[in-house]
Amino acid sequence: MIIYGTGGIDLVDFLEKELELLKESRLYRQLPGPLEGPAGRRTRINGQEVVLFSSNNYLGLAHHPRVKAAAVEAVERWGTGSGGSRLTTGNFVLHRRLEERIARFKGTEDAIVFSSGYLANLGVISALVGRGDLVLSDELNHASIIDGCRLSRATVKVFRHRDVAHVRDILLAERNSYRRCLIVTDGVFSMDGDIAPLPQLLQLAEEFQVLLIVDDAHATGVLGKRGAGTVEHFGLEGQGIIQMGTLSKALGSEGGYVAGDAILIDYLRNRARSFIFSTAPSPPVVAAAMAALDVLEEEPCLIDQLHANACQLYRGLKEMGFEVLPTESAIIPLMVGETRRALTLSAALAEKGVFVTAIRPPTVPEGTSRLRITVMATHKPEDIQRALEAFLWAGKRVGLI
Ligand SMILES: Cc1ncc(COP(=O)(O)O)c(C=O)c1O
Repeated sequence: MIIYGTGGIDLVDFLEKELELLKESRLYRQLPGPLEGPAGRRTRINGQEVVLFSSNNYLGLAHHPRVKAAAVEAVERWGTGSGGSRLTTGNFVLHRRLEERIARFKGTEDAIVFSSGYLANLGVISALVGRGDLVLSDELNHASIIDGCRLSRATVKVFRHRDVAHVRDILLAERNSYRRCLIVTDGVFSMDGDIAPLPQLLQLAEEFQVLLIVDDAHATGVLGKRGAGTVEHFGLEGQGIIQMGTLSKALGSEGGYVAGDAILIDYLRNRARSFIFSTAPSPPVVAAAMAALDVLEEEPCLIDQLHANACQLYRGLKEMGFEVLPTESAIIPLMVGETRRALTLSAALAEKGVFVTAIRPPTVPEGTSRLRITVMATHKPEDIQRALEAFLWAGKRVGLI
């Protein structure tokens, strides 16, 4: 190994010890066998054909012919990269079109696109609050929200998962000691698949004069009649909720966005550092997202199919005696508890050609390791049947049922 400088020896020692600790606690991570095909209902991993039940490509749009064609056409016309940030030379006609399209979809005055959902959360939170401000964040919020809160330097109070009474208590005790205040929540929680109590949070936001951001990464294309997300699901359009989301899951592309009032978006263009200091999303990515929104508009039945598939799989697993959390989204958490057991279950399923990722701390709280099963609209009844048979076999082998 090359050791740079005199501090290098200590560094190697430190790295080895850290990795050893991760291995001892079974938290050491390795990239899984790479996919040798698209993230569709069936793909190839390590030379084996598998049915995939762990992708966020919920509607199968990442390999939809129209979405792919739009990306290819954009490469031909605009090239592969944007070559600059939006405020310099990376601001293509395409970007603005996508932002207008997202605003229309979300029912807001305007929208701003970032290179990823992660960057969107970093940008919007750190631009809106800072020292002297207060953020109230659900304990199960996504890491990008947590990092956005840290970056903002605002005081952060974490409330118990979906516990509106707890939010109220914190606001009563703390609100007056701070300048601006923000409540931030996942719309659909990424590891639990449940939905934030948005109407109640909005009521509190109005009562205590607080900003409200919902992260619709897993709700876009999944919740609401048109798939517009949590705000549409609850009928809360036009009430000032700031809607953040990503293009990388049900919309089958990449990039994040914030949708809201025109003045907010104007401000973010000026103050969101992850927007200002990052190269604009590439033309194929932007074109693919737009085409995905078109497909979603024309084929809302994809959303119904997604929920029908989730329901069928959930029911089957429940009947077998697995501890599955009820879900209204595309995410079905199958609770295992112990990390070693979750990993063994995932490996046993792989033996049967069913790919489901095990999720463990620190992504989920200690003692709640699980299999995060996700369903796609494109799964066929035979895929679900095959998954259920594999779960029955693997669950018995691991002693879970
Ligand atoms: C709730 C949530 N927010 C934000 C993100 C980040 O989005 P992206 O993967 O587009 O960076 C993710 C996914 O990784 C997520 O699950």
